Amino acid sequence: MTTADDIFDQSTDNIQRLGLREIPFTASPIDLQTDTLRRIFTGRERELRQVFNLFQSRERRRILVSGHIGIGKSAFMLEVLSVLRRKLPEMLTTYISLPANLDLATTALIAVAREMAHDAWAQRQLYQMGIPTPKPLKERSSEISGSLGIGGKIGEKDLPITAPQYPTVSLDTLLERAQKQYSRGVLVAIDDLDKRNPAVVRQLMHDAQGMLKGRAWFMLTSHPMGMMGDLLTTERGLFDLQLPLHELDQSTTYKMLINYLSSARIDNDCTDPDDPRCVLPFEEDAARRFCEVSLGKPRLFNRLGHIVLSTAADLGVDTITSAVLEQGLRAAKPSLEQQAALNFQTQKVRALLEQRGTLSDETITLEDLEQLGFSSFSDILPLLEKLASADLAHQLNQADVTAFAPIPLPSADEETADEI
Ligand SMILES: Nc1ncnc2c1ncn2[C@@H]1O[C@H](COP(=O)(O)OP(=O)(O)O)[C@@H](O)[C@H]1O
Ligand SMILES: [Mg+2]
Repeated sequence: MTTADDIFDQSTDNIQRLGLREIPFTASPIDLQTDTLRRIFTGRERELRQVFNLFQSRERRRILVSGHIGIGKSAFMLEVLSVLRRKLPEMLTTYISLPANLDLATTALIAVAREMAHDAWAQRQLYQMGIPTPKPLKERSSEISGSLGIGGKIGEKDLPITAPQYPTVSLDTLLERAQKQYSRGVLVAIDDLDKRNPAVVRQLMHDAQGMLKGRAWFMLTSHPMGMMGDLLTTERGLFDLQLPLHELDQSTTYKMLINYLSSARIDNDCTDPDDPRCVLPFEEDAARRFCEVSLGKPRLFNRLGHIVLSTAADLGVDTITSAVLEQGLRAAKPSLEQQAALNFQTQKVRALLEQRGTLSDETITLEDLEQLGFSSFSDILPLLEKLASADLAHQLNQADVTAFAPIPLPSADEETADEI
């Protein structure tokens, strides 16, 4: 009889048969510890250079990292922070994921106060907000953000937070205290603004002008520029550097695959792109095709990588040939669909998109709209964006028109001629 223990052992064996200690791809969003991040973080050199150039000057700056969900904003921010922590110890770097229903100044206050465990005034601010301090909070945040040790999310049980009456003033006082210890000042990194509605984010930024012009350096992650509407032109000067993150190109995506795989391979850590062993257990052709379907989108790349490796492990193979890859990719669509949990109307939009190949204001017909029960393309835009955020569609980079296409994955019932 096969016991659950046996199944566990088989599962371990199957991954090892592929020459891997573990599956390096993460299906859920960011789960990065410094060492892992350093090994797998790939590309973005131009953007890193732009950010680090600012840190060569003492004048404090505000940086906005923008882009679609899954493009790599959080990873980029964490990579920047981990470098700054090593290179600029005289700067206090803080990180926080924007908590629900809080303004930016209160959020920044929490982020900074948490890092000032030895400052009684800072701890009192946290205490007055109803945030347990300092040890229990430290322990919890280190569980979440791993060895980065820079606080992650605030747990449900810490809420509701009693926001201070004048958060910008409190923050300013706190920053003044911090600057006495940190000669290069304080960096406040606020992540996950992209998880909120763009209109809410616009309002939050508008309300935070005073804070943004205050004493600290700021780094925020947010929606793509277009979705932020006119905020960034009307509030000119709010940010010194706006960094839109786009899809990685094919050769960078290939390097990313090399980095992920070599971080988990048992007895070969080859990273030379000219040596075909660098993408094992993928065969070279399969590795290239995998990068193509990932479209240079890091989250899609991770999701597909996870599914493909699991499929290969279940098949008990030791190499990912093109045929094994196709089988893995066929499993991807239903898996992404399941995670997306689409409502009926979004499913209808998706069916139309699959049928047409692309959809835009210019290609959609009145008949299509009628069938969907909408009167204009802009009504279905939010649904297309929902599909894109679930990795079931992607927005094409076209100059003037907003157009969407399906992710080019094979259907579950598509047969390939190849034998596995
Ligand atoms: N440049 C990169 N190199 C390696 N992995 C990356 C890179 N950018 C993102 N990732 C990974 O891709 C996934 C999605 O990235 P994330 O930063 O969460 O996107 P976003 O914050 O824009 O939604 C994460 O698992 C992340 O670790
Ligand atoms: Mg993010």
